[in-house]
Amino acid sequence: VGAEFNYIYPEDSEIDKEDDHYLYNFTLPSDLKIGVGSAAYQYEGAWNEGGKGESIWDRFTHTHPGAIADRKNGDVATDFYHKYKDDIKRIKELGLDTFRLSIAWTRIMPSGTISSLNQQGIDFYNNVINELIKYGITPMVTMYHWDLPQYLQDLGGWTNELIVDYFEDYADVLYSYYGDRVKWWITINEPTKAVEGYNGNVTGSGYAPNVSLPGVGSYLAGHTMLKAHARAYHLYNNKYREHQKGQISISLETFWYEPLDINSRSDRNAAEQILEFNLGWFADPIYSEKGDYPDIMKRKIAENSKKEGYRRSRLPEFSEEEVNYIRGTADFFGLNQYTTNLATFREEGPTPSYKRDTGVTLSAPSYWPVSETTKWEKVAPKGLRKVLNYIKDHYGDKWDVVITENGFMDDGATTDTSRVIYLATYMMEMWKAIYIDGVKVVGYVIWSLLDNLEWTSGYISRAGIFHVDFSDPDKIRTPKESAEFVKTITSTRQI
Ligand code: NOJ
Repeated sequence: VGAEFNYIYPEDSEIDKEDDHYLYNFTLPSDLKIGVGSAAYQYEGAWNEGGKGESIWDRFTHTHPGAIADRKNGDVATDFYHKYKDDIKRIKELGLDTFRLSIAWTRIMPSGTISSLNQQGIDFYNNVINELIKYGITPMVTMYHWDLPQYLQDLGGWTNELIVDYFEDYADVLYSYYGDRVKWWITINEPTKAVEGYNGNVTGSGYAPNVSLPGVGSYLAGHTMLKAHARAYHLYNNKYREHQKGQISISLETFWYEPLDINSRSDRNAAEQILEFNLGWFADPIYSEKGDYPDIMKRKIAENSKKEGYRRSRLPEFSEEEVNYIRGTADFFGLNQYTTNLATFREEGPTPSYKRDTGVTLSAPSYWPVSETTKWEKVAPKGLRKVLNYIKDHYGDKWDVVITENGFMDDGATTDTSRVIYLATYMMEMWKAIYIDGVKVVGYVIWSLLDNLEWTSGYISRAGIFHVDFSDPDKIRTPKESAEFVKTITSTRQI
């Protein structure tokens, strides 16, 4: 089954040649943490309950009712806010070690500033965390999964550097209230996506806050996010690490990229460059020895900016002091990995700014199995192993890697054989990365526990190993075939 879902280039690396799955026992390391993931806006609902403030996704979906497929929004979502106890029991019954959840900044501080501290919000996450601990489940907590307080957006959001201070205050509150029990922190989830809302209509991405600053906004927002991430990391080091002894990172998302034509040097460059633009953008400043953005990114964006008549690069610069401040601000490498694309140099249509600056166009062969609901998600498990190897080779093998997201989206059917195959084949590639290539993968988190709000795809694209009936006021959960599969994995530790 694994081989069938691995595309093979005969001339490419050893990884592509291998086809000897029968040689391996696929027993997972006993200390590998296995979990499921979630995020506040996609799960909680209760958008204005418990003193919660308005986030950019609340504002965006309420003012642009067509922004999400079927004119839906996250007002109720899976109603995790009211149902978390039963859901945590489900996680326990699956035998999982870890639950990844995000905290809604607007529950803790409705306006985003510490002056608005909200005890009910603090209590809610205390209850959730205690419930997890009760069952021996390790919480992995994301501080920012895209739902910025609207008040901070009114101040410019991530384009205003002041937000670094506000983020520090927010992180301070989270460490001080939850750090005794939370030992795994993710500052920001997928900054490459979190900044998309600053490209506005150019990308047609339709992400909150839907501000249109094409070519400039996403780089600026990303620049601020790196500073905010580093500030939260240093705060932990200076004030909390000694007694709380936790670990902090950021979740970076990347596809794996293969050259469109394996024999073309130009296509090979395209694949390498798009990876530097996508993963390197946030990974290089934090994980590389040199710190700072990848050279290719700095060079290309500067060139393009000049051609467009700018005096300075659209990509902001870090001072030497800032480079030093950001470099090394992680305790492990958090990776979200889903799929693979083929790369070639060709400019095409309106694409997100970072892709426009690379001049790379992405595609995937029609014969690769695909998620019918997302279309972008091709089942290409070898890409996971290649990204893991890239991290080890490029950033050094000192980093433990936690796969903070991996999963498959479909129409939500409870007989979800495609998801089982997806998870099994990706886990097999992770296994090879661990045992054959020596990548230190210490955690694997499946996206996602429940069907949930898949951003602009709404409730059409389903990621859960539990089905959720969104038309029912009780949002009834039903285990899918994949939930059984996960239970088998946790009980046998074997894929
Ligand atoms: C990325 C995001 O972190 C998560 O919110 C999203 O639902 C999944 N990947 C699937 O697209």
